[in-house]
Parts: sequence; C-alpha cells; structure tokens
Amino acid sequence: MEVRIFDTADEIAVACADIFTEIIKNKPDCILGLATGASPVKTYKELIRRYNNGEISFENIRTFNLDEYCDLPRDDKNSYYTFMHENLFNSVNIKEENVHIPDGNAADPEAHAKSYDAMIDAAGGIDIQLLGIGTNGHIGFNEPSDTFSDGTFKVKLTDSTIKSNSIYFDDDSMPRYALTMGINSIMKAKKIVLIATGEAKADAIKATVDGEVTPMCPASVLKNHPDAILLIDKAAAKLL
Ligand code: PGA
Repeated sequence: MEVRIFDTADEIAVACADIFTEIIKNKPDCILGLATGASPVKTYKELIRRYNNGEISFENIRTFNLDEYCDLPRDDKNSYYTFMHENLFNSVNIKEENVHIPDGNAADPEAHAKSYDAMIDAAGGIDIQLLGIGTNGHIGFNEPSDTFSDGTFKVKLTDSTIKSNSIYFDDDSMPRYALTMGINSIMKAKKIVLIATGEAKADAIKATVDGEVTPMCPASVLKNHPDAILLIDKAAAKLL
C-alpha cells in the first residue's frame, strides 16, 4: 500500500484525476468503481473539467458504485443515485445504461446483491476503485466487524456512521441499512485509490497504515492489495 501526503484537497483531486485519466486513456471502455461522500467531490469536478476540455470521454465507460442506502427512494436528494448524477454523471457523456448503483429498494436484497457482483465479474472486473474512509475505518459501508465481508450485502449501519452521515438528513430520517459491495468485491479491483482529508480521519488512517490487518478497521485490508494508493492530506496523516 502506497501513501501519498498532500497539502490540500485540491492537490489530491488533481492527483486522483491523473490516475483516472491515465486508465481512461489507456482503456476507453474501462470499468470504474465509484464512491460517494465528501471525499470524491473535488475529483469528480476535476474529471468533469477534463471532459469539458476534451481530454477524456466517458462514452464507453461503465461504472459500478460502492453502495446505496436501503429504504430511500432512488430520487431522494440524499440517495447515492442522486449524488452521482448531480456530481458526475449529468455533466459527462456517460450512457445511463452503463451506470450501475446498487438498488437499495430491491425486493430481494440478497438476490440483487448476488447479481450486482455477477454483473461486475461479467464486465471483466473493476479497473480502478475509488474509496473514501469512515471515521471508524469503514470502506463502502463495510463497518468494523469480526470478519471481513465477501460480496455485496445488506448491512446495518453503525452508530458512528449514522452520526457522521445524518448531517445530510432532516431530523432522524437517515436510513439504518444500506447495500454495499463487500470487502472481497472491493479487493478484486485491479487498482484502488482511497482519499482522506481532515483531522477527523486521522485515527482511521493511523489504524489503516500502522495497525494490523483486521476487520475491526476494514480499510486495513488494503495492505493486502497489490496496487492500493492512499491520497491523504496532512491533517489526515497527522498521527503517522
Ligand atoms: P466522506 O465519507 O467522504 O463523506 O468523509 C467517507 C466514508 O464514510 O466512507
């Protein structure tokens, strides 16, 4: 696992967009694994800028998102479907049929999760997976646990995640469950890039980089990946 430390989130966005740009240029029909949350927003802005400049095209790209809330209408302002369209998809030439986001309202979540993983495999696997990290070390919605998860599954969110994400929701309406790619789905990606900024992530980054590989800090598993890069700012790196 490689760790690169930057002064600002803007520099991280450029570095991350550089990594994506190289992959997109080498393989215009690549498979992107995408993330939501605050961490990737600047990277998406930079990718949109490059698209508008004619540097990259999304015409033949297929995407698979990490996760989605359960029991939230797809068009809710807080759904990850809405987030991805507002922050990236509506601003580039991706084809809607090439966009994949877990369906948090699937009647049979287990069957849907299985078919989601099967679709990723059938597409040839994810070429690059973008990740944020939770203050509790989660990646996707893989919360700290006794074991590493396997494929996509329905997860009960922890109090720490509910506290972090409920700022986006009115009153107490944040969903308590989500569908997420599992650790094994994430680890199958050919390349993984994790972004973390701010002091609130310092403990999770410390545990990820300096701690043992343990499902109690899900991101620590990235140490077992042959091509994982952490792009972090000085505040997130402050305990290293
Ligand atoms: P954030 O969330 O990018 O909004 O900080 C990251 C995460 O919880 O995985």
